[in-house]
Amino acid sequence: MKQILQFTVNGEPRELLIDPKKFLVEVLREDLGLTGTHWACDTGACCCCTVIMDGKAVKSCSILAMQANGREVTTIEGLADGPNLHPIQQAFIDNWALQCGFCSSGQIMAAKALLDENPSPTREDIQLQMDGHLCRCTGFNMIQEAILDAAERLKGQK
Ligand code: FES
Ligand code: FES
Repeated sequence: MKQILQFTVNGEPRELLIDPKKFLVEVLREDLGLTGTHWACDTGACCCCTVIMDGKAVKSCSILAMQANGREVTTIEGLADGPNLHPIQQAFIDNWALQCGFCSSGQIMAAKALLDENPSPTREDIQLQMDGHLCRCTGFNMIQEAILDAAERLKGQK
C-alpha cells in the first residue's frame, strides 16, 4: 500500500504518495525529476548518489524515501542561485576536479556538508569526508584542491 511522504526538497515542501519500498534516490529521480542525483552501484559502494539530509551527507540509494519523512533534503539542483553556480561548483570547474561528471554531484554534496560544518577543513578532514567517493576519471588530488579552494571562496578570501 502506498504511503504519504512529506519532506522539504531544496527548500520546497513536497508531498507525494509513494511505494514505501522505494529508496530516496528513486523518489528524487523518478517522482521529482531531480536527475542530478546519480545512481550507479546501488549497493552503497560509490557515493555518487550523495545528497544532504538534515545537514549530513547521506547515500540516497541506501535509505528508504520514507526515512526522509519530515526532514530537509538538499540535492545538487538546490545549490546554484539561478544562473550563478554555487562557489563549490565553480571551484570544481576551476580546479579541473571533474571530467565526465558522473561522480561530481555526489562529491559536491559531500563537500558542501563538510564545509557547512567545518569551514576550514584540513586535507585529512577532506579525505575522511570524501572516503568512499569513487571517481574513475579525475585525480582525487584535484578534488581535494577544489574543496580547499571552495572553503576560501566561501569565507570570502578569494
Ligand atoms: S549509487 Fe549509491 S552508493 Fe553507489
Ligand atoms: S569525473 Fe568521471 S567519474 Fe568522476
